[in-house]
Amino acid sequence: MQSGRERLSLDRGWLFHEGDIPFPIVTGHQPSYDNAKAGSSSGAASADYDDSSWKLVNLPHDWAVEQPFDRNANLAQGYRQRGVGWYRRYFRLDPVDHGKHLEIQLDGIATHSTIWVNGVLSARNWSGYNSIYIDMTPFARFGKELNVISVQVDANAMEGWWYEGAGMYRHTWLVKRNPVHIATDGVFAAPVKSADGTWSIPIETTLYSTEQNLSTVQVESTLIDPEGKPVVSGHTETTVQSLRESIAKFALTVNSPRLWSVDQPTLYTVRTVVKRDGVVLDELTIHNGFRTIRFDPDKGFFLNDRPMKLMGTANHQDHAGVGVAVPDSLWDFRVRRLKEMGSNAYRAAHNAPAAEFLDATDRLGLMVMDENRNFGSSPEHLRQLDWMIRRDRNHPSIIMWSVFNEEPSQGTEMGYQLVRRMSASVKELDTTRPVTAAQSNSDLNPVNASQAADVAGFNYVYRDFDEYHRINPTKPMFSSEDTSTVITRDQYTTDRKAMLLDSYDDQVLPWGLSHRDAWKQVNERPFIFGTMVWTGFDYRGEPQPLSWPAAGSSFGIMDLCGFPKSAYWIHQAQWITDRPVLHIIPHWNWAGSEGKPIKVMVTTNAQTIALFLNGKPVAEKPVDKYEMVTFEVPYSAGTLEARASNGGKEVARFDVETTGAPAAIRLTPDRQSLAGDGYDAQPITVEVVDAKGLVVPTADVPVTFTLSGPAAIIGLNNGDPTNHEPEKGTQHSTYHGLAQIIVQSELAGKGKLTLHATSPGLNAGDASVNVIATAAPPAVAEISSQALVLMNLKRSPASANSPDPNQQLVISDMNSWTPAHPDALPPFRDGVFAIYRTNFMPRRADRP
Ligand code: GAL
Repeated sequence: MQSGRERLSLDRGWLFHEGDIPFPIVTGHQPSYDNAKAGSSSGAASADYDDSSWKLVNLPHDWAVEQPFDRNANLAQGYRQRGVGWYRRYFRLDPVDHGKHLEIQLDGIATHSTIWVNGVLSARNWSGYNSIYIDMTPFARFGKELNVISVQVDANAMEGWWYEGAGMYRHTWLVKRNPVHIATDGVFAAPVKSADGTWSIPIETTLYSTEQNLSTVQVESTLIDPEGKPVVSGHTETTVQSLRESIAKFALTVNSPRLWSVDQPTLYTVRTVVKRDGVVLDELTIHNGFRTIRFDPDKGFFLNDRPMKLMGTANHQDHAGVGVAVPDSLWDFRVRRLKEMGSNAYRAAHNAPAAEFLDATDRLGLMVMDENRNFGSSPEHLRQLDWMIRRDRNHPSIIMWSVFNEEPSQGTEMGYQLVRRMSASVKELDTTRPVTAAQSNSDLNPVNASQAADVAGFNYVYRDFDEYHRINPTKPMFSSEDTSTVITRDQYTTDRKAMLLDSYDDQVLPWGLSHRDAWKQVNERPFIFGTMVWTGFDYRGEPQPLSWPAAGSSFGIMDLCGFPKSAYWIHQAQWITDRPVLHIIPHWNWAGSEGKPIKVMVTTNAQTIALFLNGKPVAEKPVDKYEMVTFEVPYSAGTLEARASNGGKEVARFDVETTGAPAAIRLTPDRQSLAGDGYDAQPITVEVVDAKGLVVPTADVPVTFTLSGPAAIIGLNNGDPTNHEPEKGTQHSTYHGLAQIIVQSELAGKGKLTLHATSPGLNAGDASVNVIATAAPPAVAEISSQALVLMNLKRSPASANSPDPNQQLVISDMNSWTPAHPDALPPFRDGVFAIYRTNFMPRRADRP
């Protein structure tokens, strides 16, 4: 806990009901009158609703990924039903919290949601991609009394044409602060370098107060280096208004900071302390980084004054086994996979990602184009956009704000005017990064959206690159999407009826380019500052050009699990320049095709490839750095080897070998340990190997898993978009030799996790991972058994004589009886009578 505030996780202990719970129909004058009042929500929104039959779940939670595949469900959402669901969470607040500012933060709910706290309607939210912050201070209950959050989620609502999941799929928090405090997302401290080369950090601290009176406070911020040493401090004094935001501003000057870059993502922190009369009221630490970005209309992008093409991928936010409820540690895994490919940039398509994802891109060094979901200039649209900028503007990894993706109005006055307004809204909050938009046509129209953006993003309109640049010589440009090649991992022939798409980068959809050609279009033009390949990872939904039974996309450079497809090796060859890379496509298991020619593509950044089959030279060819190099090789079993050379000097060798029959299952954890905090998760790779330990690239076998130790299996998949096996449970088949199983530690977990995998006729595989005792993030205690909360008491007028307990209220008399709160009953006096009355339904569990 930072002094003055507590940020407690609310992730554990939610009750979940799948399906809607209609609100009771209200009839009659008094019930209608009561129903219209704050705090008198009914049905599952009310504090005393009987939820004793609901299922206990922990967040993040995506109920869509638990659904069976259904041909009648929407293909765009991955053929899974979404529907409506309800969540409830009980908790208690200590009486010492009375008077504090209490905020509930719900980081992402797919898709539309309504939230009540203690029966009080507290928020309606119209996007699955932004956080919801609720000031619950006015209706908090303390001591023995229970607080309850009720959430109705409408996941029939859609904001995308891809899989969006369903439910409370990001983290949730309760933040307790003093009445005078730093507002949520309230410290903005992005370093800037001025023309004379000096660095400063203009610090803007937004303060809020729930006190009655104005308050004068001191705000102090300290920059702390990566080793934890204070570098420089500054402070100011400011007046905080009551129930309004007040901003304190001052700047720190910093001499020769270490820079943040893709290769060395150095992070600093800024600790901001708010004091009054020497007493600390609030304290918040955020991280930031020192880097410059520059977008030149002719020369492209510069990071820290070094020219750098963006070698990026666009991605949605679902992963194998877990849907959109992605554990934080899987973000690290995904960022690492992209970086290993040589990628330096990421487009969060088409919405703001989880906060923890941006922490990973900051920490690991990947530049991000952060994207807003809903396009418009209504107060609600601008609220969603403002939320994204406020939450994300300290991240050094973010280099651009994107306000839309492919809007029908992009080539019109309307598109232009909307981008103007959205851009102005962004600039109110951040002027250190350009505003862009991903436009897919009409960029040459006399009036079009790109004119209102600082940087023009092009989706698939590569044919306009040169003309646009000629007409708009001062506008920086990049390719926000270009590749549209579909590939099935480790598949080498195409049969669309059988849902199979080959790996030779030839299945190019009409609007896009191959991986090889797209990079050529971008790389050959210095004024195009980079690309965001569609996509880095496969995602659920959008199975085009396929449909049922294909339920997921095939655009990915990697499959849904993060297993490389051939495009991965192509991009490595295109993007990695500091060491030789070399790979052979396809595998070398072609029994039955002896003597027949097999197409071989060698991916490399070297100049020449000599190919050998079983030690005998096949051919030697120069490599085209975009096209790579292909051969036709008559098949015979054995070893196909590529030797790469530059200027006649061999720089690398790589081979593929014909494997034997499947002999065993091999399990390989991503990491040797797991933090026992109930959150840490990691993928374990499942491989089918032959007797020599080579992965059998054709093996589709069923595997059953047994896990023991302080962890659980939270998802399984094999990357085959047509596979309809459940993603939860303990069984899954492999696809082309591979599957992935995701394990997560238990809360207070300690000891060894062992995973045992069996498949009929094969030797079993085993893996173990050390679960290391690790404190979980501080959390709001779970309430294990729910007591019935009698809330809506009414008190009759006081009388001197004992009243008739069965007396009825006069119809339309809204005022004689008064609402009464069980914990705040007026003092009882001798000789005065009153009736307290309430209606309730005993909980199922309590009924006889
Ligand atoms: C683009 C769009 C992406 C995805 C892709 C598929 O036009 O921006 O979201 O739909 O097409 O090719």
